[in-house]
Amino acid sequence: MFQADLLKGKTIFITGGGTGLGKSMAKRFLELQAQVIIASRKIERLEATVGELQAETGGQILALALDVRDYQAVESALDSALNSFGRVDILINNAAGNFVSPTEALSPKAFDVIVDIVLRGSYNTTLAFGKHWIHQKQTARVLNIVTTYASTGSGFVVPSAIAKSGVQTLTRSLAVEWAKYGITMNAIAPGPFPTQGAWDRLLPPGLEKQFIERIPLKRVGDHLELANLAAYLVSDQSEYINGEIITIDGGEWLKGAGEFNFLDALTQEEWLAMEQQVRKANRK
Ligand code: HXC
Ligand code: NAP
Repeated sequence: MFQADLLKGKTIFITGGGTGLGKSMAKRFLELQAQVIIASRKIERLEATVGELQAETGGQILALALDVRDYQAVESALDSALNSFGRVDILINNAAGNFVSPTEALSPKAFDVIVDIVLRGSYNTTLAFGKHWIHQKQTARVLNIVTTYASTGSGFVVPSAIAKSGVQTLTRSLAVEWAKYGITMNAIAPGPFPTQGAWDRLLPPGLEKQFIERIPLKRVGDHLELANLAAYLVSDQSEYINGEIITIDGGEWLKGAGEFNFLDALTQEEWLAMEQQVRKANRK
């Protein structure tokens, strides 16, 4: 759907790019001729992804060990990326941690571990990269991966919901503050996209069918759909989009929001009975 060289000359730094959606975005960016850095804690898994994506795309990709919770480590990773590629144009805050649990069962540490990865981690990378770009007088883009429940809130994933809504606020705040430096910032709010990281930690056994039935399009997202949206949002073609949270969820969150959307479960017969009831009420 894009020009083959849409991202040529761009260097893109993806946190958590060794697995899941980060890996799928890395692949798409390489196909579109970007240079890519993937950075997370588990270097062996990152190296395996580098080998796989290099073989598939022939593109230039580098793995860096990084824990986004450590600001000094973020600065060192940026230095390593600059040593290898000379510049970084785009930061994708994709790294995350999450699990489902009744909130009253959580310990204080359970909150810290999630908020530190998602919110503090995104703040750390954005601050380090932003300082560098502003000092270099370089235009740049940040794309944050949030969730639909960052806007609505959600039970059973409360530390994640709090942290992601903080990232959403970071997006809207710096989109305005740093526009004067030519740094723009947007976010994608995905609905369900199957990845091992999310499915193993968030989907109770046996509930997958029920989970998918709730989605108006009756299917989960395809990684390529999200990767293409991300490619557009980091490309020069979307330069005027700034401070937006773009949802890609098959209509899932809106269905939960509409008070009468549950009526899509009614059969044809039940609809006929309902019509008769309404017409009778109108005649009274
Ligand atoms: C209650 C839990 C828990 C659970 C861990 N904890 N799992 N509490 N229920 N299921 C608590 C522990 O008891 C501990 O507190 C604290 O959390 C931290 O534990 P650690 O041992 O430090 O961490 P660990 O449990 O080993 O790992 C947690 C993690 C890990 C770091 C978040 O899962 C991880 O690396 N995740 C990265 C990948 C990931 O989560 N991907 C999913 C992204 S999907 P105490 O006090 O007991 O020591 C997503 C959006 C999904 O974000 C939307 C889908 C539609
Ligand atoms: P995933 O494969 O588990 O990806 C999470 C990544 O974060 C992992 O590669 C992990 O790598 C990295 N990470 C975790 N802690 C880190 C840390 N401290 N420092 C650096 N990296 C760290 O899950 P995913 O489903 O692809 O999720 C990707 C993004 O999409 C996340 O932001 C998630 O919230 C969002 N999202 C996903 C869905 C979905 O349905 N899949 C829905 C909504 C939003 P290491 O273990 O090597 O550190």
